[in-house]
Amino acid sequence: MNASQKELIKATVPILKKNGNDLITYFYQRMLSNNPELKNIFNMANQASGKQQNALSGAVLAYAENIENPTVLINTLKSIGNKHVSLNIQPEQYDIVGNHLIGSIKEVLGDLATTELIDA
Ligand code: HEM
Repeated sequence: MNASQKELIKATVPILKKNGNDLITYFYQRMLSNNPELKNIFNMANQASGKQQNALSGAVLAYAENIENPTVLINTLKSIGNKHVSLNIQPEQYDIVGNHLIGSIKEVLGDLATTELIDA
């Protein structure tokens, strides 16, 4: 990642703080309607309470906020990784989540989602 990409990511911090939860709520609706098989994996009670949305939007925000030095997130990442391993999440499922996350960012940001920003 180059310096201008880091600047683009940093510029998303206020947007993520304000609209991160809406983005992630949109993402889950998009993903679970296109990949309903994942409903068996996610705890639907945590979806309904918003707990899962808060966890993911918090993780995305923390990554953007620490883009200059993501190693500070190592303990958090280890705990997220342990959670996913305990749930037997498979590598190909990261592609599904990643594609829906990027797709949601494009759709929610509209014209603001430039190719440069999405690449970053
Ligand atoms: C972009 C990559 C991902 C990030 C940043 C992420 C982030 C998180 C976070 C922060 C938590 C909460 C951890 C905790 O409570 O300790 C979590 C839990 C969870 N994640 Fe992920 N995750 C990612 C990918 C995936 C994938 C690919 C799957 C499976 C398709 C998945 C399924 C789950 C499930 C089932 C939980 C438990 C929540 C529940 O009880 O419903 N995650 N994830």
